[in-house]
Amino acid sequence: MDKLKLLFGALAFYGRFFCSFTAIGFHVRRLFWPRFQPDFHGQHWVVTGASAGIGRHIALAAARAGASVTAVARASTKLDEVVATAQAEGLQLQAAPCDLSSMADVSRWLVERGAVANSGGTTNAAPGQTTAAALQRVDVLVNNAGVMLDEHTLTAEGLEASFATNLLSHYRLTKGLVAAGLLPSTAVVVNMTSGGAYHVPLSTAMLNVTDAARYNGTYAYAFHKRAQVVLSEYWRTQWNADGRRSYVLHPGWVDTPGVKRSLPRFRAALKRVLRDEAAGADTALWLAATKPAQPIGEHLFFDRKARAAHLAASTRVSRDTAETLVAYLEKAQ
Ligand SMILES: NC(=O)c1ccc[n+]([C@@H]2O[C@H](COP(=O)([O-])OP(=O)(O)OC[C@H]3O[C@@H](n4cnc5c(N)ncnc54)[C@H](OP(=O)(O)O)[C@@H]3O)[C@@H](O)[C@H]2O)c1
Repeated sequence: MDKLKLLFGALAFYGRFFCSFTAIGFHVRRLFWPRFQPDFHGQHWVVTGASAGIGRHIALAAARAGASVTAVARASTKLDEVVATAQAEGLQLQAAPCDLSSMADVSRWLVERGAVANSGGTTNAAPGQTTAAALQRVDVLVNNAGVMLDEHTLTAEGLEASFATNLLSHYRLTKGLVAAGLLPSTAVVVNMTSGGAYHVPLSTAMLNVTDAARYNGTYAYAFHKRAQVVLSEYWRTQWNADGRRSYVLHPGWVDTPGVKRSLPRFRAALKRVLRDEAAGADTALWLAATKPAQPIGEHLFFDRKARAAHLAASTRVSRDTAETLVAYLEKAQ
């Protein structure tokens, strides 16, 4: 019965969003958009997950529009290739490798940028300990890296790997940059959610599933993406007074290496209509360029417009709040 319910739920969801989330929706909507030629000269961007997929496109597009870009992903030939592509075009893009599933590596990355992690995991500015290459103001931070892991994996620190990569690392990275004074009041933080968030409520109990028997990679991903929506709204309200912007967006269904790896059947069925990486990157670039006003309360951006954060009343029901989420992330560090 439960399996049947899930099957019908999935069919209803994919049927409902087939046109909207695929390239069809993007191409129809863009007919009504004004010309968009962003100019990011003088800005420094940090893009996570910049070695592939949507993040790679965002990083290169921002650099082509004049930004100096720090590309973050695990050290790999893919990351080297992005740097080589940028160099061949005369763009300013440098790699700053980091394994976002490792909180130790996130701390190391922050330390190298002038933010120091103490034993409790909070970060403070430490001007005395900065290196020459560090302390570069970040105008746009794109918290893009994300994984859906079929196989249950615990990191050396005892965290479920997708939780660490999708959510905790970005929480720490953002908090560390703010604490170090590297995300000024004019900065924009762009977070990535997914249509998967529409399936689940906020639940801190489902974020870091360390018990393999309780783990389902698709659900874990959905819970991380729901939490990302809540966290983005939390930051928006926290930062309201000093002007820093926090946005969260769904890129649509995009043909990327991640989709190929994690959702092969979904990709095989929809390959012809999946969005390309440029379409997946569009709203992130648009948000950074236009800094639109946001409605009060939880929402997410999709195709340059703020949309509902919930499609069903059931996902609004939660024992958790933004505050318990943040308390949970603090403790998980
Ligand atoms: N594609 C879609 O249809 C879709 C739909 C909804 C939401 N999204 C979201 O959009 C974002 C980008 O998705 P995508 O499809 O472009 O993903 P992708 O093709 O799998 O690329 C993921 C990027 O994240 C990096 N990454 C993965 N694990 C990492 C780690 N431990 N440390 C550092 N970097 C890591 C990868 O680099 P390395 O593996 O080399 O480190 C790669 O650069 C994700 O947050 C995803 O959830 C995508």
